[in-house]
Amino acid sequence: MADLLTDIQFDQFRKLIYDASGITFSDTNRSILDSRLKERLREKQMTDVQEYYKLVTSDQGEFKTFLDSITTNLTRFFRNQPHFDALINYVVPHVIENKKKTGDTKIHIWSAGCSTGEEPYTIAMLLKDKLPAPYSFDIVASDISLKSLMVGQQGFYPNARIAGIPQNYLDRFFIKNDSGYQVKDDLMQTIRFDYHNLRHDSGARNLDIVFCRNVLIYFDEAAQKATIDRFYNSMAKNSFLFIGHSESLFGMETKFEFLKTEWACLYQKNE
Ligand SMILES: C[S@@+](CC[C@H](N)C(=O)[O-])C[C@H]1O[C@@H](n2cnc3c(N)ncnc32)[C@H](O)[C@@H]1O
Repeated sequence: MADLLTDIQFDQFRKLIYDASGITFSDTNRSILDSRLKERLREKQMTDVQEYYKLVTSDQGEFKTFLDSITTNLTRFFRNQPHFDALINYVVPHVIENKKKTGDTKIHIWSAGCSTGEEPYTIAMLLKDKLPAPYSFDIVASDISLKSLMVGQQGFYPNARIAGIPQNYLDRFFIKNDSGYQVKDDLMQTIRFDYHNLRHDSGARNLDIVFCRNVLIYFDEAAQKATIDRFYNSMAKNSFLFIGHSESLFGMETKFEFLKTEWACLYQKNE
């Protein structure tokens, strides 16, 4: 299929996307941007790329929809189980030990780049099941994809998407109907879905655990480092950061310490 974008237009759009979100389109994935733009133009019944550029740079609503359309939202429940084993067997016990010194009993978690919610719901199910009294938790789940956030907020997952959830969790945390599974209210209430662009400071502080998995791969090095620094500032002393298992902070100047547990590798903020 013929390219939609000229070289100059490709540079224009990739700069726009990068400046706004950190998402980097290289020459090799130019065709992805091309096809997503074609789709957007079709939906807007437009044919002129330059005219669409004018629209997207002047209309905040269209800009958000456009950004949403270029994101990759692939996710699943219990994605990379070793991370969750490390969460339950290593991270949570250490967070509880730290909390004992302060008397605080609430664990604050952020699922950054949560897509359609499978990651935060996985964390919530595990903590509902495993967290000992008197401890409780809350989760903020954020993304720049409004479409994805709406799925998470509704908490309804078709049969094809519930693979990986243990049967006892399905029974306990979901209501089954003909086409799929609805998350029950008490699980839903542990999560707040929120629009947040990782290009900016979220304003959160003193978080105990941050998950940002399979998001940094879409950023270039400068945007990755800026994001990691913002995480650092939003986290409590002795808190923990999970990034995707194919992602790494290796070679990046960061104050996080690399941590190799029996279950998985992660990062810790030590002060
Ligand atoms: C591949 S999904 C990862 C979902 C989940 N964390 C996982 O590992 O299964 C990546 C998500 O990052 C989001 N994302 C990309 N850039 C972002 C940004 N600048 N701010 C917030 N979310 C972003 C995308 O919208 C997408 O939903």
